Amino acid sequence: MSQPPIYYFDNNATTRVAPEVVEAMLPFLKEYWGNPSSAYSFGHQLARHLEDARAKVAALINADPREIVFTSCGTEGNNSALHSALLTHPDKRHVLTTAVEHSANIKFCQALQKRGYAITFLPVESDGSLDLHLLEKSIRLDTAIVSVMWANNETGVIFPIEEIAAICRSKGALCHTDAVQAAGKLKIDVKALGVDFLSLSAHKLHAPKGIGLLYVKRRVKYHPYILGGGQERGRRGGTENVPCIVAFGRAADLAAASLHDENTRVRALRDKLESGILAGIPGSSPNGAKEPRLPNTANLSFDGVEAEGILLLLDQVGICASSGSACTTGSLDPSHVLLAMGCPPARARSSVRFSLGKYNTEAEVDYALRHLPGIIARLRANAPAEPGKPARRATAQPA
Ligand SMILES: Cc1ncc(COP(=O)(O)O)c(C=O)c1O
Repeated sequence: MSQPPIYYFDNNATTRVAPEVVEAMLPFLKEYWGNPSSAYSFGHQLARHLEDARAKVAALINADPREIVFTSCGTEGNNSALHSALLTHPDKRHVLTTAVEHSANIKFCQALQKRGYAITFLPVESDGSLDLHLLEKSIRLDTAIVSVMWANNETGVIFPIEEIAAICRSKGALCHTDAVQAAGKLKIDVKALGVDFLSLSAHKLHAPKGIGLLYVKRRVKYHPYILGGGQERGRRGGTENVPCIVAFGRAADLAAASLHDENTRVRALRDKLESGILAGIPGSSPNGAKEPRLPNTANLSFDGVEAEGILLLLDQVGICASSGSACTTGSLDPSHVLLAMGCPPARARSSVRFSLGKYNTEAEVDYALRHLPGIIARLRANAPAEPGKPARRATAQPA
């Protein structure tokens, strides 16, 4: 199967698996395919590799390896943290979160609501930031856990998790952060952050899909979400995904090494793309605070055109970008994140996210900047006319 060239600007959706990571995991698919819980050494010898990977991912976030629970993905980490907090404090039936979380959190909270729990979805300001006074005031005596993402997957806006964790501590509530988008882009030090739980997903870090982790701070009670065998020291049932765990460990090492590149070269590429679009395309505007923001993410609206059409025409020239989260793509609803920021629905529907990563080059940014203005102009020429004038169908015909 040969793949035509792609220009990949969707690194917040998923990332290319690094060749070094493929290399590291292959022996665990081909030769060492045993079960680490087995009594014989062909299986049991794998436990050493699991622990080696655990030490590597722990080092990425400055945790103790015993504080790491491997999960299947970021979604599982988020669900597990909330589930554990509510079982630990059965008398506390309130969860505080924000209106701009990933569906991995929002959907779980909505399900909790249906089961009688009280959930507060904190609103955000028009630039996507949080009002910490409001957050503090919203923590109740019966708040079991506060769950706030570190960096928004759609806008890249960063929340001050260290301050939020301090507020939670002072109010006696547990604190979880969804750090899925922060990993590999921001330095993570769980000791300095002071959170009780933190979730990561390996496929945002140039490792395969199907593996993630939940950091559980020492001495914080943990109730497993998935019950079964005694794996993960009784904290997560299910035979360990050894090849992917090994891959995650290798990816964590690489992520630590490329943090500087992310914040210098990748940031410069993102800035070039963003400023090039804003300067070259009339009626384009950024969404979300300029800073603090992930170094790789730009979210822009294009007056008078639907993102759906833009993405279709971008796809025809090999450019991968997205509107909103990959997990909600396909839905015609405007982004809940942009709506929560007070963005009118029409503007939210015209927004496209570009998220860069370590494999992007300046030539790719130039390529995108060459194609986008023509695509937007074409869509605008085809867009339905102003009210009162005959409407033309908005189409995204092949070039
Ligand atoms: C902020 C955030 N949280 C959670 C997730 C879910 O991660 P996973 O796909 O590993 O379940 C994502 C995925 O895009 C995300 O961006």
